[in-house]
Amino acid sequence: MRLNKYIAEAGITSRRKADELIKNGEIEINGVAVTELGIDVSDKDIVKYKGNILENQGKKMYIMLNKPAKYLSSVTDDRSRKTVIDLVKNRYTMRLYPIGRLDYETEGLLLLTNDGEITKKLTHPSHNIKKTYFVRTDKPFNKIQIENIMNGVDIGGYVTRKCKINVKEGSKNECHITIGEGKNRQVRKMFATQELEVTYLQRVSIGEIPLGNLALGKTRELTSKEILYLKSIN
Ligand code: URA
Repeated sequence: MRLNKYIAEAGITSRRKADELIKNGEIEINGVAVTELGIDVSDKDIVKYKGNILENQGKKMYIMLNKPAKYLSSVTDDRSRKTVIDLVKNRYTMRLYPIGRLDYETEGLLLLTNDGEITKKLTHPSHNIKKTYFVRTDKPFNKIQIENIMNGVDIGGYVTRKCKINVKEGSKNECHITIGEGKNRQVRKMFATQELEVTYLQRVSIGEIPLGNLALGKTRELTSKEILYLKSIN
């Protein structure tokens, strides 16, 4: 696609004005400023304006965010609180939507995309993709409490399925829990049934996609392997 068309479709300006930006050396392709008109770009090229990546609106994008606490996982908020979109909109010009939700206070892996089909598929209750969370509780837990949670607990009209918990070595109040369902505030409610308050919660993986060492508040694009994995989930 012609560079000026690409810039116009990214939604920042018209095609004619895009030519001005190019002539002024304000557009970078793969880290190099271009001034020549009539250049073609492909999906693999990274086009930037003022340091921000310009995405072609037709292109499907899949990104992960390490969500900080005190950000809503929605697009807007009627109480003007910050949302995860505030963290991504400067880097990605296209409209992205979170796939599922994390609580306001929960940190960690959140996927965002403009691919409605994938969102619909992954958020459908029948999917049960395993999600792993790092949990810290207000006080030490014991074996019985952990076994109770693993065997399934009633979180208020819903009994959770059997799940896996790995207790962090040497720790009495930290563990990893892997669950297949995604009920509202599920992990917090599961621990609350054992009189334990979750004081820190972080999602560390969704299926085969790990958060890794992505810094808090930062984003990265999913690799093609990760995208294929998401698409392969039935
Ligand atoms: N379980 C919770 O309690 N909160 C989340 O944000 C995710 C899972």
